[in-house]
Amino acid sequence: MNDVGRLQLAARMAHIEPFEVMEIQTLAREVEARGHDVIHLEIGEPDFRTPRPIVEAAQRALDTKPMFYTSALGLAELRDAISKFYRDRYGIDVPAARIVVTAGSSAALLLAFGVLLDPGDEVLQADPSYPCNRHFARTMGGVPRLVPVGPESRYQMNADIARRNWTAKTRVAMVATPSNPTGTMVTPQEVGDLAALAREKGATLLVDEIYHGLTYGVDAHTALEAGDDVFVINSFSKYFQMTGWRLGWLVAPPAYVREVEKLAQNLFISPSTVAQHGAVACFEPRTLEIVEGRRAELDARRKFLVPALESIGLRVPVVPQGAFYIYADCSQLTGDSLAFARRILAEAHVAVTPGKDFGHHEPERHIRIAYTQPVARLEEAVARIRKLTAGS
Ligand SMILES: Cc1ncc(COP(=O)(O)O)c(C=O)c1O
Repeated sequence: MNDVGRLQLAARMAHIEPFEVMEIQTLAREVEARGHDVIHLEIGEPDFRTPRPIVEAAQRALDTKPMFYTSALGLAELRDAISKFYRDRYGIDVPAARIVVTAGSSAALLLAFGVLLDPGDEVLQADPSYPCNRHFARTMGGVPRLVPVGPESRYQMNADIARRNWTAKTRVAMVATPSNPTGTMVTPQEVGDLAALAREKGATLLVDEIYHGLTYGVDAHTALEAGDDVFVINSFSKYFQMTGWRLGWLVAPPAYVREVEKLAQNLFISPSTVAQHGAVACFEPRTLEIVEGRRAELDARRKFLVPALESIGLRVPVVPQGAFYIYADCSQLTGDSLAFARRILAEAHVAVTPGKDFGHHEPERHIRIAYTQPVARLEEAVARIRKLTAGS
């Protein structure tokens, strides 16, 4: 506010909603300050520290390399390593020239929407989905169009659903696989159909693959298999446990790379140099061994938690195949998931995220539980919620 008390606010700010999970986190800290042991299942990052080889590579770089800006597209060495990773893991040729390293996939999304959207252009997205994605579209002048989805389509938007919701203004269809908050995936066939629909309409498919690597019993296919015209974003945050390093990447169709580069030069100059040097070590066998071990640990947590939640009346309509989230239906226990989340925090000292954060489609009947703590803590969390709900 300026000195006469007038708030000069862009109209877009009316559409930018706060993150309810932050509110829960603040309340959780207050509960902790009163001396209680809070079990944190609300935040989207596991309890694992960044693997040592990555930390050591970054430390070595700090000692031996200049920390100047890199190219806006990222270090050539890292882009080559990502390209090789696509070959090794997916058996697909993605030239390094198409890979743009970014400040987390968040920056990748901003760049993608920045080059694709004109004011008023619509972006089709599933409801529920990760809220920031629609706010990125809004920031670039776009209009997110939320498409209600449920267990019938594994909480994902497929081509039929997209077609039914398509308007003359739709310019982008976006899916995340595995998804946040549901952990469910889009099949390669569904991605292919969405890409074909976007092509037919002269629009673009954008696929968020940030939880790739964290899938259980199923190998993820990249949407890059569906054609060179698909935009894909990915990140070092989740599979490589580098959330705070702020590093991700975008794979853009060849004709867009120069446009993305221009925007990246202006918005960010370059991604973090030290983080990029650290990330080169992500693709070494010893790092992959560490993160694969952690994937197995997350799977063990998932296998414990799904039936345990069901046993206390928190239904899991679709068993998640990836990420580290369970989107549980709490309607047997409450008609108001926000009040429920606050109550289990206040009385059972377990923090979860209410459905409200992820959209407008039946948020009151869902909570998101992140299995970001060891099984023993998850057991304790379930026992506490069981005691609370059995007594009410
Ligand atoms: C689905 C999804 N996309 C994108 C992001 C952004 O992550 P980052 O910017 O750390 O890569 C997140 C973070 O939780 C997410 O859940």
